[in-house]
Amino acid sequence: MAPDKEMIQHLVCKTYGITKEELIKSKRGVLNEPRGGAIYLTRMIRGDGRGDMCRDYNLKKERSASSVVDGVKQRLSKDGQFFHRVTSLSENVIKGQSGTCALFAWRWASDSRKELIMRILALVGSPRKGSNTDMLIEETLKGFKDGDHTYEKIYLYEYEISPCIDCRKCKKGDCVCVINDGMQQIYPKIDEADLIIFGTPNYWYGPTA
Ligand SMILES: Cc1cc2nc3c(=O)[nH]c(=O)nc-3n(C[C@H](O)[C@H](O)[C@H](O)COP(=O)(O)O)c2cc1C
Repeated sequence: MAPDKEMIQHLVCKTYGITKEELIKSKRGVLNEPRGGAIYLTRMIRGDGRGDMCRDYNLKKERSASSVVDGVKQRLSKDGQFFHRVTSLSENVIKGQSGTCALFAWRWASDSRKELIMRILALVGSPRKGSNTDMLIEETLKGFKDGDHTYEKIYLYEYEISPCIDCRKCKKGDCVCVINDGMQQIYPKIDEADLIIFGTPNYWYGPTA
């Protein structure tokens, strides 16, 4: 189920420290960042039509809704800081909604493939290769395959990954995990990735550890 519009607006307002009135207020010729980001996320995550966006954000013409989305896309491809702000907002919006997450990644991929070239890391949390999770990840990756993106899919069960032992070393010095396990091979891949796709089965009402 897609996250509701109010939730997207709430998170954008919280991130930028503004009120909902400020968010939805239209200022002619001015594309303010929170408003543009909220409109973009509503389009990309919920797939809302231009009519809905006009109504929700006081836009007079449907063309204006498209140009806001296009403006945000252009800025995303050029401004790394903005890209990270929008990405972390989107992560908060879709937290815990794996179906929505896959759909969003697919939309993002098919929409941005001309403008952004991304390094994608797909993490498979199922122990079974070719499983339902694996198939869904493959479907998601299809959205990226005809662009110039590079991608790597890894099966987490092929790595020895130890649980956290609360040693708190990650809070000191270089702030890195000192456990010498398979994660040491995965961390650099995470650092290099522009987009991470998590795929996990539901085991006992939650994602796999
Ligand atoms: C140990 C275990 C626990 C599971 N717990 C749940 C559960 O809580 N809810 C659920 O809907 N399915 C549960 N399932 C079913 C799996 O989510 C389902 O088989 C899924 O397709 C497995 O993913 P995979 O095909 O990618 O391996 C569980 C399966 C296993 C093996």
